[in-house]
Amino acid sequence: MGVITTRMLKRDASGVDAAVALLSRGDLVAFPTETVYGLGGDARNGHAVAGIFAAKGRPSFNPLIVHVPALAAARAIGRLDGPALRLAQRFWPGPLTLVVPLAEGHGLSPLVTAGLGSVAIRVPAHPLAQNLLGAFGGALAAPSANPSGRISPTTPAHVLAGLEGKIAAVLDGGPCAVGLESTIIGGTPLALLRPGGLAGEEIEAGAGPRAQPGSAITAPGQLASHYAPAAAVRLNANCAQAGEVLLGFGPMQSDLNLSASGDLVEAAANLFGHLHRLDAKGRPIAVAPIPDCGLGRAINDRLRRAAAPR
Ligand code: TXA
Ligand code: MG
Repeated sequence: MGVITTRMLKRDASGVDAAVALLSRGDLVAFPTETVYGLGGDARNGHAVAGIFAAKGRPSFNPLIVHVPALAAARAIGRLDGPALRLAQRFWPGPLTLVVPLAEGHGLSPLVTAGLGSVAIRVPAHPLAQNLLGAFGGALAAPSANPSGRISPTTPAHVLAGLEGKIAAVLDGGPCAVGLESTIIGGTPLALLRPGGLAGEEIEAGAGPRAQPGSAITAPGQLASHYAPAAAVRLNANCAQAGEVLLGFGPMQSDLNLSASGDLVEAAANLFGHLHRLDAKGRPIAVAPIPDCGLGRAINDRLRRAAAPR
């Protein structure tokens, strides 16, 4: 893949139109969602989908999440009924991905699902993502817009830092509000496949599956070492050791604090941006303990992967 000029597209009708023109040709456009930036390509176009794997340097063809504007469009590609349908009705649009059986005549490139009989579907709530999907008029395959194994991007600058020269454009929607990838649920019976931006407690209240801490079930492609900064990461640190920078939580001395007031929603939104900034200092990163409830579960999942041996 040669080096191309990556354009920055404005968050207005002209930017959305330009993004649609590029996507329709099979080019790749990073776009904002409320969770993280996605690297979008036409989910029906095998060439575009292959380009996503190439740009990210993904080691294997893991299945990708397919983004659609609403439940009706989701039902054209996946079979949604029973408890999965109830979760969709309750939490879409929002940071929830559902893995369901492929629908007859779905039209997706088999690369999107890695040849599986199921598909991961998400309806993002971000207004710019909604505009883009509506104007494009088809499904967009979109993993997080970062090189494989690195920290997920929550700003256009993060996307450029990892993928400039490899993708056609970035649609600039500013920073992402949630800051953690979507929660993934699927299987029969429904199970939590990846903790994420929709807290387990909320899903249980909506009659979804119980979040089982340490459950052996994971989405394929959930490698232990993932979301990795270049620097070493040490967890559950109450203070920095010599040479380390400290990522704090709650009232404490630190180099950067995820949330000085101990708010897990604020901490989730800050997580990847703060890791990017501390990583740029080129020193090992110590991270304060984070409570393992609410969005804290997804934060701790990402931190364990960041700290895993690689
Ligand atoms: O918030 C998000 O979910 C972001 C934004 C851009 O929407 N997307 C994202 O996509 O995180 P990605 O590709 O990085 O994560 C996709 C996850 C992978 O762990 C993959 O294995 C799982 O979804 N997945 C996709 N299709 C699946 C399937 N048919 N069965 C099980 N897991 C699947
Ligand atoms: Mg990712």
